[in-house]
Parts: sequence; C-alpha cells; structure tokens
Amino acid sequence: MHEARQFAVVTGASTGIGLELARCCLRQGFDVLIAADEPEIESAASKLREVGSGNIQTVQADLSTTEGVDKLYTAAQGRPVDILMANAGRGLGRAFLDQEFGKARKVIDTNITGTVYLIHKVGNDMRRRNSGRILITGSIAGFMPGSFQAVYNGSKAFLDSFSFALREELRDTNLTVTCLMPGATETEFFKRADMMDTQVGTAEKDDAAEVARAGFDAMMRGEGDIVTGMKNKLQSAAANVMPAGMLAKQHRKMAEPGTAKPQRS
Ligand SMILES: NC(=O)c1ccc[n+]([C@@H]2O[C@H](COP(=O)([O-])OP(=O)(O)OC[C@H]3O[C@@H](n4cnc5c(N)ncnc54)[C@H](OP(=O)(O)O)[C@@H]3O)[C@@H](O)[C@H]2O)c1
Repeated sequence: MHEARQFAVVTGASTGIGLELARCCLRQGFDVLIAADEPEIESAASKLREVGSGNIQTVQADLSTTEGVDKLYTAAQGRPVDILMANAGRGLGRAFLDQEFGKARKVIDTNITGTVYLIHKVGNDMRRRNSGRILITGSIAGFMPGSFQAVYNGSKAFLDSFSFALREELRDTNLTVTCLMPGATETEFFKRADMMDTQVGTAEKDDAAEVARAGFDAMMRGEGDIVTGMKNKLQSAAANVMPAGMLAKQHRKMAEPGTAKPQRS
C-alpha cells in the first residue's frame, strides 16, 4: 500500500546531519529506510516517528564492509529508491603516524569504499529506471589538505570529486547527483573523532538541521553542490586559490591537538 509514497534511503541517520536529512524526507512525505552501525538507529527511528506519517524502517549495518552494504541493500526488498542519501561517515583526528591504522582504515572503508559500493548498487537500479536522486555528503574539508585530520580530509576530497564526476556521467539521464559540502557542524562527529582538544572541535558550529535542509533542497532542485553558510563559502573559495602547503599550515591551527581555546565558565 505504501508503494504510492516515494522512498528514501538515508545512511548515517542515527545522529547529526543524517538524522536531520531523514527528518526532511519524512516532512516531504517520503517513506525512509535509515541505517547506522550502532543500535542507536532504533532511538533515531523513535524520534522520527513524531515527524510524519511515512513508514520508517531501520537497518543496523557496518557500512564500511561489503556485507554491511549488502545487508542495507537487501533490506530495501527491491523497492525502487527515489532518493539515496549517502551520508554515513566518520572522522579521525591527531597526526597520521600517531593514529591506529585500523581506525584510519575504517575512515577510508566507511567514507569511500562503502559509500561508492552503495552508490554503485543503487545507482545502477536508478539508471535502469532512469529516475532517482543521489545526495552525497562530502565536505568543504575536501578542499583542504587536513593536517591532523589527513585521512579524513583526503576521503572527503575523494567524495567531492567523485560526486561531480558521477553527475557529469549521468547528465543525459533523469538521475541527479548532488554533493552536500558542510563546514564544521554541531554533531557527534568531533567527539567521535577524538578532536575535543582542538580549535575546530570546540568552536561554535553550524546547526545540523539547517545544513540538512539546505542539502535536501539543493538535491530536490537537482543542483550539483551546496556549500552552506557564508563563512564556509568564503573558506572554500579561498581554498580554490591558495597553495596547498598554505592550506595545510592553516588546517594545523584548527585541528592540531592542544589548539582548543580555553572554555569560559
Ligand atoms: N559535523 C561536521 O562538522 C561535518 C562537516 C562536513 C561533513 N560532515 C559529514 O557529514 C556526515 C555525517 O556526519 P555528522 O557530522 O552528522 O556526524 P555524526 O553525528 O557522528 O553521524 C555520523 C553517522 O554516520 C554513521 N556511521 C559512521 N560510521 C558508520 C559505519 N561504518 N556504518 C554505518 N554507519 C556509520 C553513524 O552511526 P554509528 O554511530 O552507528 O556508527 C552516524 O549515524 C559524515 O559523512 C561527515 O563526514 C560532517
């Protein structure tokens, strides 16, 4: 019966930007399939049930693995996906050589490998139907060599680039690809990335609901990319003209451990 409704898949929807993206979908009358790695995805579903009448299905899957992505894909039970929001991602602070390699690898496997595998599967279904919208959560971090967050920024540079390339490949179809490129946003991200002793980790940040709304609207308009907020627009414009070495030096100032400003009590 719910087949008359449109259907959105949102990854990384247990908290932060993904939770807000799922909220946008429900407000617009979509059914949603939401995924994350931890059991918190169920409490996210409870919060989302207050939003609208759309059907909410959850999947707990580690999207850094092919098995996890397959589990999510299977959970859709062949239902055509109108919107795919490939948003799941994780950061990791500290100097690269001080990071546990397993954690660095998890960033690559989640942000890059799992994301492109999911897009490959769902994107092919969309192309067969010649219909669908894909939103990829990249980042303005993808424009800057991220000293003390090197692997993460590299993973986002990959996604920003991949998103534009895929969009161009699909330009003669009815599929659209949009890259949401937030700046620092108030979510669980910096805590999970062990960056609460850094300037960027403790600075005032953008509101996740506003970021998600801007991304959702840009995707519905079929735009190629969206950088939210004037500060982030300026930062990404500057990154396009500044030498990479200078950007890496600047990034140190906000991401090196110990750069956090003392908190006022
Ligand atoms: N916050 C920022 O400043 C910022 C800026 C630019 C871009 N972004 C991007 O925005 C996206 C959302 O991040 P956020 O800021 O909203 O952070 P968040 O609150 O930490 O949310 C991250 C989401 O991704 C999920 N996730 C992470 N690894 C996963 C895995 N292996 N398998 C399945 N789910 C996984 C998390 O679920 P689990 O807890 O279950 O793992 C959570 O639902 C990320 O791609 C991030 O890179 C964030």
